[in-house]
Amino acid sequence: MNLTLHVWRQAGPDAPGKMVIYEATGVSPEMSFLEMLDVVNEGLTERGEVPIAFDHDCREGICGSCSLMINGVAHGPMRGTATCQLHMRSFKDGDTIYIEPWRARAFRVIKDLAVDRSPLDRIIQAGGFITAPTGSAQDANNILVAKESVDDAMDAAACIGCGACVAACPNASASLFTAAKITHLGLLPQGQSERYRRALKMVQQMELEEFGSCTLHGECQEACPKEISIDTITRMNRDFLRASLLGTRP
Ligand code: FES
Repeated sequence: MNLTLHVWRQAGPDAPGKMVIYEATGVSPEMSFLEMLDVVNEGLTERGEVPIAFDHDCREGICGSCSLMINGVAHGPMRGTATCQLHMRSFKDGDTIYIEPWRARAFRVIKDLAVDRSPLDRIIQAGGFITAPTGSAQDANNILVAKESVDDAMDAAACIGCGACVAACPNASASLFTAAKITHLGLLPQGQSERYRRALKMVQQMELEEFGSCTLHGECQEACPKEISIDTITRMNRDFLRASLLGTRP
């Protein structure tokens, strides 16, 4: 396959950026999207040009590092798929592909296609954990959990923190990410003691990081590579409202 790529190039956070055109030739349909970029980068390196910076780590849809807008869609055209799991057979020979970084005020461009997603880390630091005494692991059956709660908690725990929900949202809201973390812990018995304080602190941190507000467009749910439901946002709003009404202290 031969493709024409329009790639966002930006030397640094404060440098002006622009789309640059590259021809990707001899691309195998079996390559992943990131492997195709690797081949383009090999060509750039051989010509003495600066390779395209993009984030990646596991390349298995687990770590959430890969973060590309492909033809204006977070993670590209395949539903429930991270960029690293996207294969070139999803495109046609002769296609033109536009590749950009996540676009959101809270995500500063570091270089080219790599953005700073540390605001998501700070939301987790604000409350995305359970305070528990450490020690040897308890027997797995010590605390019984209802099957429905386990299923819903595990569905929410599938969030890999890639930030596609933010990039897809017209308001650049991190509500789906934050709600997934709050739901995951809030549905389990171990997460009850801090449940309302957690919701309060994480939502407050989300606002501090300059993410937008949720107006239930639902784009986040469509872009999420783990197909996390916006039902989690309803749970987050309920817990946050209750915490606010009860005067819960952060
Ligand atoms: S590189 Fe880890 S999820 Fe894509």
